[in-house]
Parts: sequence; structure tokens; C-alpha cells
Amino acid sequence: MNSAPIGLFDSGVGGLTVARELMWRLPAESLLYYGDTAHVPYGDRTADEITAYGVAIAEHLAHQGCKLIVVACNTVSALALDAVRAAVAVPVVGMITGGAKAAADEANGGTVGVLATAATVRSGAYPAAVTALKPAARVAQVACPRFVPLIEAGRCGFPDSYEAVCDYVGRLPVLDLDVLVLGCTHYAFLASAIRMKLEERTYLVDPAFETAKSVEQMLMDLDLLAAGPASHRMLASGSTDSLTRVNETFFAGRLPAVEAAPVFGTVATASAAG
Ligand code: DGL
Repeated sequence: MNSAPIGLFDSGVGGLTVARELMWRLPAESLLYYGDTAHVPYGDRTADEITAYGVAIAEHLAHQGCKLIVVACNTVSALALDAVRAAVAVPVVGMITGGAKAAADEANGGTVGVLATAATVRSGAYPAAVTALKPAARVAQVACPRFVPLIEAGRCGFPDSYEAVCDYVGRLPVLDLDVLVLGCTHYAFLASAIRMKLEERTYLVDPAFETAKSVEQMLMDLDLLAAGPASHRMLASGSTDSLTRVNETFFAGRLPAVEAAPVFGTVATASAAG
């Protein structure tokens, strides 16, 4: 038994969709969440920036006593998982492996679609992971740079979000899709709008679910499960507004107030837009 928290991080509110899966699956576990709102969105940044932020935040969470770290961000998982693992002594779980496995399992020889950030798409992490498991699968990726700013601004359910969903999903070979992977943790907030634009037979994969399963298995294997009661904390490096809003709307205010956290690295304003 180990009552230390599980650390999770993301550029903003996206990783809270992973926190929700963990809270459902492992209610006795305490979570320490870091949203790097000073640097959101990550998806338009360089590999060096993404790696620097991911490594520094993981080191911070390990320093805070976390027993395991979840990289609750596909972009960091795609570009910097090895660097994050090398930087900390605790186990690290990323998003890509579980999502790719679920997609490969459901791909009946047709096409796997992936919606993700520009950086994740460029990395080729999902096509590589899916075809390693199912060599015959075809993978169609679409980068969705408008989604994260809309979600951080609380615009899910507004017409501009719906238009963005129609635009990006419309670029996929929708009629051929066996599976669609939500390849960014933010996108689960748009899952119902995305689902509406798919054929009924298309299986929607949210890697958060698979990742929570892997975390549970790892904690059991390492004898690190907590007995409870859980006590959560949320940190934000920049504005606390988006995390506070999601706490109210998505968690019915069950999480504590968001705390100001250290900012790691410099804010590269030139690449921070859109
Ligand atoms: N939620 C993150 C992901 O899963 C990062 C999105 C972003 O900041 O661009 O990729």
C-alpha cells in the first residue's frame, strides 16, 4: 500500500479527462494534477519546447513525492516519453500505447482515423504504434489546431466548436473508418459532437480509458495501490480559469481550488498562438 499521489500533467484541461477515468477506476488514489496553462497549446510548439516542459514538470511532480506519473498529454507522450522516463525515478505511463492497442484491436482491416495536435500528427507516433500491432491497418491523421484554444476557452457546445468539428472530421475518410482515436486528451470534451459526425459502425477510442487501465495494472504489479481516502490537488502554471471552469462543469466542483504553480521554461510567445 502506498498513499502517495499519482502525478498527472497536460498543457491545460485535457489531462482532466484522464483524471476523471482514474477517479472512477481508482477512487482511493490521490491525484496531483499540473496544467501548464502558461504554455498551452503544446501542439503548435517545437519538439524541443515540448520535451523541455514535459521533463521539467515530471521532475517537479516526482519531487512532490508522486509514486507514478501519467503523461496525460498525447503530444508529450508522442515526442518526449523517453526523455520524461529518463528524468525521473518513478514509473511513467503515456497515452499512445493504450490508445493504439485499442485502435488496432478494433481495426477490422479497414482504416483507423486519428484526430490529434499538429505536433502529434507530425511525430507519426500513432501510425507507427498501430501498424506495429496491425501491419495491414491504414491510418489517416488530421491535425486539429483550433480545438485546444476553443476547449480552453470553454467554447464546447458553441457553434464555432461545432464548425471546427465538422471541418476536421470532414477531412477524414469517414465512410471507411473502423475506428477513430481521440489523439489529444482535450478532444474528449468534444466527443459527443465528433461522434455525431461518424458512421454508426465507427468505434471511438478515448485513450484515457486505456491509460487508466494501464495505471491500475501497474499499481497492482508494483504493490503501490492506496487505501484511501483520496485527497486531490490541482496546479496551474498560468491562468487558473480553465481548470476552475472544468472543475465546476465536469466534476461538479468536487476538486479543490486550483493553486498557482511554478512555471518551467520560458513562454515562447511567437509559437503560442492558435
Ligand atoms: N492535451 C494535449 C494532448 O493530448 C495537448 C494539447 C495542446 O496543448 O496542444 O495532446
